[in-house]
Amino acid sequence: HSARPDAEAMPENLDDVASGVQACRRCPLYRDATQGVCGEGPKSARLMIVGEQPGDQEDLAGRAFIGPAGQVLNAALAEAGIDRSDVYVTNAVKHFKHEPRGKRRLHKTPNAGEVQACRWWLDSERRLIKPQVVLALGATAGLALLGRKPAVMQERGAPIELSDGSTAVLTVHPSYLLRLPDEAAKSEARRLFIEDLAAVQRRM
Ligand code: URA
Repeated sequence: HSARPDAEAMPENLDDVASGVQACRRCPLYRDATQGVCGEGPKSARLMIVGEQPGDQEDLAGRAFIGPAGQVLNAALAEAGIDRSDVYVTNAVKHFKHEPRGKRRLHKTPNAGEVQACRWWLDSERRLIKPQVVLALGATAGLALLGRKPAVMQERGAPIELSDGSTAVLTVHPSYLLRLPDEAAKSEARRLFIEDLAAVQRRM
């Protein structure tokens, strides 16, 4: 491997991305993670969904959005009339950042440097898939796509044109729905989340 990571050859296909992520040393997060977690979905996907980073279960399984947040996402996609198997689902950061808390591993939000380092992989996925719409779940995904930290609640749902001609749309992260304490707030937030997904579906 090169001492200068940016001298690394650009991935030519999704298999290169997958192997590159496993070997990635662009930031220190690989050290405490079980494995890298790449996106998955059809190469022909017109919609790409970008989360923050793998969670505990994703880190163990090596697959994006298979844990609790993934269950929320799957149900909301189904209600919005989007078939997850048509979507390329990935994350801004490919390794699980966490800290020990007793026997559990608690999620830690990746910092701007880690997001920037991992853009190499997200940009590669976007270049290879060429989605029409990229849906960012939460502020970290927004930062990775826009290069600035968005105000998700103000900017959600409004299309933003990206330099490659694709359209970014921001919405909340499904984990936010899981964290809301009371049922009324949760069901209203869920309704708005599904509304954002349905608006994306109508753009496709
Ligand atoms: N949260 C994310 O942002 N991505 C995952 O893959 C799982 C949980």
